[in-house]
Amino acid sequence: MPHINETPLVGSPERTEEQPESFMNDVISGLSKEQKSIPAKYFYDEAGSVLFDRICELDEYYPTRTEMAIMQENIKEIALQIGSEALLVEYGSGSSLKTRILLKHLNNLAGYVPIDISREHLYQSAERLAVDFPHIPIHPVHADYSTPVVLPVDRGNYKRTVFFFPGSTIGNFDPDEALAFLNRISASAGRGGGLLIGVDLQKDPLVLEAAYNDKEGVTAAFNKNVLSRINRELGADFDLDGFEHKALYNDEAGRIEMHLISQHEQNVHIGEHSFTFRHGETIHTENSHKYTLPQFAALAKRADFKVSRLWTDNRCLFSIHYLTVV
Ligand code: AVJ
Repeated sequence: MPHINETPLVGSPERTEEQPESFMNDVISGLSKEQKSIPAKYFYDEAGSVLFDRICELDEYYPTRTEMAIMQENIKEIALQIGSEALLVEYGSGSSLKTRILLKHLNNLAGYVPIDISREHLYQSAERLAVDFPHIPIHPVHADYSTPVVLPVDRGNYKRTVFFFPGSTIGNFDPDEALAFLNRISASAGRGGGLLIGVDLQKDPLVLEAAYNDKEGVTAAFNKNVLSRINRELGADFDLDGFEHKALYNDEAGRIEMHLISQHEQNVHIGEHSFTFRHGETIHTENSHKYTLPQFAALAKRADFKVSRLWTDNRCLFSIHYLTVV
């Protein structure tokens, strides 16, 4: 029998569901700043998630396929590092191929805890995993990653807690947010616990910029989709043709920045709010931080982790770290 344990919502409901009021507040406050901005988390409505999946298949977008290849090539060593009877915890929907590789190869897994902000995605993918991995207890937890999560499994039933955070999603955090996130994970994993994390690496800016300015314009559509979402859900009147997508590498900050550039002077209305855009003025929609290996090791150390093991591809495009709590 497939094995799913429904766990009650963890954390306060206001913080765990995306509320329309907070979407409105975040957009209004972002567009009121000197450098206008919109939080990157709002990319992922239904259309945005489909576009993101298409990004992952683009020739120029190397991270997904490179991370996947690193995992496949090193899965025996990865399994050895994680050891047997671990409790595997993942933020995100956990329906991905990467998760499946782990579930297939980890030795005598004590359980898998997918954590997601979308209740629907969470239970749908938990259901599918439970069918495909009937011997692994699946314990979905409905929460977001800013809330400390209470693990739904009795501590006596597993040897160590191992978090899985693939996709270089950590790149969306500014360095201070990344540190806070790693600190929460190390505290929650506890001594002897671990974190298997995908980290995109610094490289030729031309390679980076190509990955975020693809020829087919899928990333452009993904970026602009946040404006259609604001029009639809918040009743705004963004003219999608009045903005152009651009991604550029900020060398000093070590990050790709995505922007939407106003093509002429224009006004946009959201409820009773009105925003003026100068010709060429941008909305900053995403940061994607890239690390060097020493930079990431230093960051991990500040969060009480040490790099136990590290794998990369032969071009050093991407890295997977196994961090353990010291
Ligand atoms: C999901 C944050 C890892 O930064 O590469 C891809 C998002 N944005 N193309 C990334 C993204 C544009 C992606 N992360």
